[in-house]
Amino acid sequence: MSDAITPFVPTERGITEHKQAHAELRAAGPLVQVDAPAGGPVWIVTEEELARQVLTDARFVKDPALAPADWDRRMAGLERPAAEQTSLTTLDGPEHAQLRKAHAPMFSARGISRYYDRMVAIARELLAELADSVPAGRPVDLTVDFNTRFPVSVVCEVLGVPAKHVDQAMNACRDMFNPDPNAAMAAMAAFNELADAALNAGDGVAAELRDRLPDTTVEDLRYFIFLIIFAGQPTMDASLGYLVANLLEHGVSGSDRKALDGFVQEVLRSHPPAPFTLWRFTSVEVELAGVTLPARAPVLVDLFGITVDPDRRTGPDLVFGAGAHYCVGAQLALFQMRALTEVLTDTYPDARLDVPFPELRQTDIGGTMGSRLNTLPVVLQN
Ligand code: HEM
Repeated sequence: MSDAITPFVPTERGITEHKQAHAELRAAGPLVQVDAPAGGPVWIVTEEELARQVLTDARFVKDPALAPADWDRRMAGLERPAAEQTSLTTLDGPEHAQLRKAHAPMFSARGISRYYDRMVAIARELLAELADSVPAGRPVDLTVDFNTRFPVSVVCEVLGVPAKHVDQAMNACRDMFNPDPNAAMAAMAAFNELADAALNAGDGVAAELRDRLPDTTVEDLRYFIFLIIFAGQPTMDASLGYLVANLLEHGVSGSDRKALDGFVQEVLRSHPPAPFTLWRFTSVEVELAGVTLPARAPVLVDLFGITVDPDRRTGPDLVFGAGAHYCVGAQLALFQMRALTEVLTDTYPDARLDVPFPELRQTDIGGTMGSRLNTLPVVLQN
């Protein structure tokens, strides 16, 4: 057990500083045992090849029913067991594959590209409102509202949730992190309303999903839609901050599609928004990297530490995970980042940071959550 390494403790640092614990984990070996936030041990995979092995090994499962019996579900950020709530994030094997198949065409690059023009229009509209809200030359802080509003507006558009519900969706996403359990329960009720609104509107991905899952209960369908709205929110909020900060510091040509995609990918690699995978548990005793893990052992992959490893060889990265649970929203995320970059470079060529780049600060709230910028003051037009 590595007592001295504390990857789940909140930290605040400059934008160019990595959380120290990831380097410490990497230095401690390919599989490191530390204290889990909800108590007891957790094994963290810090080596890329081993990570890919774990992420494709059927003995490492997602079902929260296999979490250590003494874990507080809420504190550990666990969903209900798969027997109570089927979800992409609680199922494995053929059931998971079937549910992924139902999502696949809508969330593929081709499926998501149908919404690209709307993403550009939404970015344009929201940035114009922001620019008009202050006199020329004055900054706006994108972390206050924009970095949440843009991805939530986009996911509502994609799902078919009418735009008048965007504030409700933003509040519900934020309340999922509210320590008051009543607020989180109210948020789930709000997500149900949003799902119903999308299903009633009938002209987006929510309705397509319903058509592709004819034997699914309304409760399950609502949960699947909730997951799509909520799962991308903390990662997108953070990513957009790093994207804009790096864009205004380093610049990229909005008309060169290849350069733009490379830039987006590089920002994600420099600031991986999901520091760890979601929880996995061993379904049986497993030998891994010379260690015997008991059944029901909690396991995480250190996506951040692996991605920012200075000795990492180039090639496909783990920013969006790997294997059967690879991020279903990866294309949605990449298209949004591309749309925002295009609009900023085209419409606000003189936009600039209102503080020197190295002075930007970032914070993570601890646990398995990632970091986001504390503030991002931007002057959109002079
Ligand atoms: C830059 C933004 C994003 C990053 C870095 C990211 C990262 C990840 C990672 C690493 C996983 C795999 C977790 C694991 O294996 O335990 C994942 C899964 C998932 N992501 Fe994302 N994500 C992002 C945006 C989104 C968006 C916009 C959505 C909305 C659709 C989304 C929905 C999901 C869902 C539903 C899963 C579970 C997939 C499954 O278990 O089959 N993500 N994401």
